[in-house]
Amino acid sequence: MRIGRTLPPAAAPLSLKEILSGLAALLPGAAARERFEAELREYYRVPHVFLLSSGKAALAVILLALKELNPDRDEVLVPAYTCYSVPAAVIRAGLKVRPCDIDPQTLDYDWSRVGEAMAGGRLLGAVSTHLFGLPADVERLKRMAAGHGVTVIEDAAQAMGGEVGGRKIGTLGDVALFSLGRGKALSTVSGGIILTGSDELGEAIAGVVGVLPVEGCHENLKNISYALALLVLVRPNFFWLPKAIAILKLGETIFDASFELKRLGDFQAGLSNGWQEKIAALRETRLKSVMAMITAGVCGPVISNHCAPNIIKFPILVNDVDARGRLLLQSELLGLGISAVYPGTVPKIPELKDRYDETEFPHAEYVAKRIVTLPVNPYVTSSDIKRIYELYRQYSD
Ligand SMILES: Cc1ncc(COP(=O)(O)O)c(C=O)c1O
Repeated sequence: MRIGRTLPPAAAPLSLKEILSGLAALLPGAAARERFEAELREYYRVPHVFLLSSGKAALAVILLALKELNPDRDEVLVPAYTCYSVPAAVIRAGLKVRPCDIDPQTLDYDWSRVGEAMAGGRLLGAVSTHLFGLPADVERLKRMAAGHGVTVIEDAAQAMGGEVGGRKIGTLGDVALFSLGRGKALSTVSGGIILTGSDELGEAIAGVVGVLPVEGCHENLKNISYALALLVLVRPNFFWLPKAIAILKLGETIFDASFELKRLGDFQAGLSNGWQEKIAALRETRLKSVMAMITAGVCGPVISNHCAPNIIKFPILVNDVDARGRLLLQSELLGLGISAVYPGTVPKIPELKDRYDETEFPHAEYVAKRIVTLPVNPYVTSSDIKRIYELYRQYSD
């Protein structure tokens, strides 16, 4: 166990001012949720915005609404390597997960495998994921979905604030979700957002959301204590402490399909005060670190000139699986914040096992064994980047 300066793998730090805004939002008549919704509608120029208790709740709500509109369809296409919350939300909505292999270069779909999934008439939706904030090719998925009655769901859980060709991530699919969880592009401790320009879908989502409770006193108290703890403990000088406490299970990936569906609480909505300026500044800082790493010689995904992504962790593949293990161990000892992310593919999640032919997802399997992410959060200094690069150079080939 390391005691001393330790970088968090990802962070969207909260300030005391934001926590005070969160507390002010608990006062009668503060209307922070209405304010946040209106700002999102204006910023993204979409008519329908919904605030939920988490990103996975947002995805489950989208799927429940789609299910109501298309009761004959019951499958959802998801990348075979993604956050476990995605298949969990599909199961939570009473639907079937249909994993599709990925391209190790882009972490987006292996396009040669998408066509067969579209054609079967069972697909309700296809999830296009901006993993770690790297822009996915949503347009390509939309073109492939066209004519098959499949809704393209933009999973921008990790990508809020990014842009592609001058268009905002979150407005590229038929419907989109963001996560406001810890370590995301923007955080209100926890929370989720749905955006859609479709009136039909917007109405169906409103029907689902309308009967959900707003996070209440209990959740507000929990989120206030988390926010106060994060204010201090996410800083590199203190981050070793929560990391050392095993019961916090920091960085562990858990599959849980029994999560609650609620609307975002007032405290979290209050925390979002000033989010537009904050997210732009965070994007710039993170992108600078990504570019500094690439300039130093780190070989990661190509960032096209016409993108301004909000990358929350920079993913790379370490070809030698044993070397990857040693890299992660060294990073742990040195407190450099290099992280292993999701431990396996979607088809191998123990709760989903035996439903799929595991040999169908060779690229996802390859990635799961080799991926690590480098930290690019606002706490990463130029001397950290040098040290991260030196370590990377020792273990990559
Ligand atoms: C790609 C992706 N989708 C969905 C989610 C779900 O978001 P939340 O953690 O807010 O439930 C996450 C969360 O990490 C994610 O990374």
